[in-house]
Amino acid sequence: MTTAGLEGRVALVTGAARGMGRAIATRLAHDGASVVVNDSTEEVLAEVSEELRGAGATVMAIGADVTSSQAVRAMFDAIESELGPVGVLVNNAGVLRPTRFLEISEAEWRLVLDVNLTGSFLCSQSALRQMVRGGWGRIVNMSSTAGKNISTMGGAHYTAAKAGVLGLTRAAAKEFAGQSITVNAVCPGLIDTDMVRQTISAEDADAYARSFPIPRLGRPEEVADLIAFLASDRAGYITGASYDINGGDLMI
Ligand SMILES: NC(=O)c1ccc[n+]([C@@H]2O[C@H](COP(=O)([O-])OP(=O)(O)OC[C@H]3O[C@@H](n4cnc5c(N)ncnc54)[C@H](O)[C@@H]3O)[C@@H](O)[C@H]2O)c1
Repeated sequence: MTTAGLEGRVALVTGAARGMGRAIATRLAHDGASVVVNDSTEEVLAEVSEELRGAGATVMAIGADVTSSQAVRAMFDAIESELGPVGVLVNNAGVLRPTRFLEISEAEWRLVLDVNLTGSFLCSQSALRQMVRGGWGRIVNMSSTAGKNISTMGGAHYTAAKAGVLGLTRAAAKEFAGQSITVNAVCPGLIDTDMVRQTISAEDADAYARSFPIPRLGRPEEVADLIAFLASDRAGYITGASYDINGGDLMI
């Protein structure tokens, strides 16, 4: 592992078993943080934990459903007693459903809002308590182009949840701005992960990619680079902001 500014920090990435979460955890470990990888179950984290440990990182793996306040509290207690207070939180866990408006069941609406929005709130609340005690903090919330416009693949629940994440970001940013704690959001466009591959066909993914000013899908590592910057000391004057990373698909 090289050193790049996160030495001595404890960084929690939710939904880190695969996709962008995995790339973000890898990047933060590379930058020197002790990394906590979270996903719904501990089993799915075995591969990423082993890979990061093999590269010399300090890693803790915690299976916890971010929609459960009890599980989230237990996760933060376990992190603080084993590694110390969380300094960096990346609220990355998310689910997408492509269901059309009139077909969205109440249960599916609640699931999508719970994971993407309530999960981010619950983790932020626990993290902020530790960040206030630790006197420093960085929260990066995973929104989406959907949060500013509408989703390419997801239904109304996904767009509503990702827009909610932007509101959550601004509100938390304002409350904690005087305490060396920043809260920002990133809004990726179409990034090449299982979420995309399991939702649309390869042909549709290619067709979308060709329509972007930069005519390809984004890579998880490119999003991880942006998040690593926002998680660093260098980004101390940025808070309440949201960063687009979408190959020019949405320019506002
Ligand atoms: N891929 C894209 O094009 C894209 C674009 C914009 C935003 N996003 C967002 O970025 C984030 C990561 O997306 P991805 O493409 O890597 O998705 P992904 O489906 O590959 O990974 C998401 C991870 O979150 C985990 N997860 C789901 N529910 C959870 C829960 N209740 N508790 C803990 N973990 C849970 C999953 O098990 C999975 O490992 C998501 O928030 C997604 O909405 C993705």
